[in-house]
Amino acid sequence: MNMQEQTKKIIVATGNEGKMKEIREILRGENILFSSLRDEGLLDVEIVEDGKSFEENAVIKARKISDLTGQMVLADDSGLEVDYLDKAPGIYSARYLGEDTPYSIKNQHIIDLLDGVADEKRTARFVCVIACAFPDGRTITCRGTIEGRIGYEEKGTNGFGYDPIFYVPEFGCTTSELSPEEKNKVSHRGKALVAMYQELRREKVL
Ligand code: IMP
Repeated sequence: MNMQEQTKKIIVATGNEGKMKEIREILRGENILFSSLRDEGLLDVEIVEDGKSFEENAVIKARKISDLTGQMVLADDSGLEVDYLDKAPGIYSARYLGEDTPYSIKNQHIIDLLDGVADEKRTARFVCVIACAFPDGRTITCRGTIEGRIGYEEKGTNGFGYDPIFYVPEFGCTTSELSPEEKNKVSHRGKALVAMYQELRREKVL
């Protein structure tokens, strides 16, 4: 990194401090100051995520905050796709069975729906789409995925959400059993964010 380079501020359209922590960790050392909606005093802005895809929802969030601030804004949308359930919960992952329902219940529900389903039909993936909205009205998106299978019981105490039932055959464990550093290296969010970073470098925005 060139020490002469100025620190660049990027607003991330999320109020989720867990996501902010992951993003800062993944792009650590890149001279970028990531500022959350909380940092910007914009936590109360109402954003209606009524898109039909991860891409549409990520763009809705990034565009809304870019229009409000006149700055370049990143936003992500992510979720779990279970092939046997026709890719549910998908874009509804956070709202699945109710926003405030504990993940122990959501996870057990998915395990129950897959009762008796053989290993090779338990395929699933985490998807993350990062959108970047520019003040001139342009948007770009990058997608990252990690492939796995739905487990038979919750395992692990790291991570969040559906991590305890997301078994990755390659690692022989769930993403909830990986350390945060290990997960960031292989996760959907890590891959999408690195792809976006490379795209912004190519465009000489960073
Ligand atoms: P979003 O905040 O609208 O992107 O919703 C993402 C939802 O997808 C989360 O609330 C989780 O339910 C699920 N999800 C996304 N990424 C992960 C992950 O890395 N581990 C576990 N669950 C995840």
